[in-house]
Amino acid sequence: MAGNIRIERMTEEHVEGFHRALDTVARERKYLTLLEAPPIEDTRGFALSSMAKGNVHLVALDGGEVVGWCDIRRHFFPSQAHCASLGMGLVPAYRGQGIGRRLIEAAITQARAAGMIRIELGVHADNVRATRLYERVGFVHEGVSRDAFCVDGTYMDVINMAMVSR
Ligand SMILES: CC(C)(COP(=O)(O)OP(=O)(O)OC[C@H]1O[C@@H](n2cnc3c(N)ncnc32)[C@H](O)[C@@H]1OP(=O)(O)O)[C@@H](O)C(=O)NCCC(=O)NCCS
Repeated sequence: MAGNIRIERMTEEHVEGFHRALDTVARERKYLTLLEAPPIEDTRGFALSSMAKGNVHLVALDGGEVVGWCDIRRHFFPSQAHCASLGMGLVPAYRGQGIGRRLIEAAITQARAAGMIRIELGVHADNVRATRLYERVGFVHEGVSRDAFCVDGTYMDVINMAMVSR
C-alpha cells in the first residue's frame, strides 16, 4: 500500500481532504494539540494564507484521498524568521509503513531550500513512533515542557526537539 502513496505539495484542491485527515487524527486525542479540526472555512483560510506566504505544506495522497500531511511554517517576527515549526500526521491505516519518513524528508528538503535554518516541534512524551521518526531524520532533544498537554484530566510532558542546519 505504501508504495502507491504520492507525496505532493498541498494545493487548494487538497484542503477538504486535509481537513478530514486533521480532524481524524485530532479526534484521537493523543497526538495533536487540537482535539478536533477547526471549521472547514477557518482551515481553508489558514492553509491558503500559509501556503501563499511560502510555508511548506505537503500531503500524502492515496489516489485522490489525503491520508497525511506535513507542514513547516516560518515564525513571524524578523528575529525568528529563520525558525519554523513542524506538524504532521497520518490517518491510522497508513502508519508504520515508512510514509511518515518520506513526508518529513521531503518537507525538510523544501524548508531548507526556503532558508528555514531551525525547525522545531513538540512531541508528547508517550509518542514513541513520532519521537523515533524525528530522531532518525536528525532532530535532537532540547528539553521537556512538563505537564504541557492535558486531556481528560491526564497530564503529559511534551518533548521539545529541533534541527538546526546552517
Ligand atoms: C508519527 C507519524 C507521522 C510517523 O509516521 P509513520 O509513517 O507511522 O512512521 P514510519 O513508518 O516512517 O516509522 C518511523 C520510525 O518509527 C518506527 N516505528 C514504526 N512504528 C512504531 C511503533 N509502533 N513504535 C515504535 N517505533 C515505531 C519505525 O521503525 C521507524 O523507525 P526506523 O527508521 O528506526 O525503523 C505517524 O505514525 C502518525 O501520524 N502518528 C499519529 C499522529 C502523530 O503522532 N503526529 C505527530 C505529532 S508530534
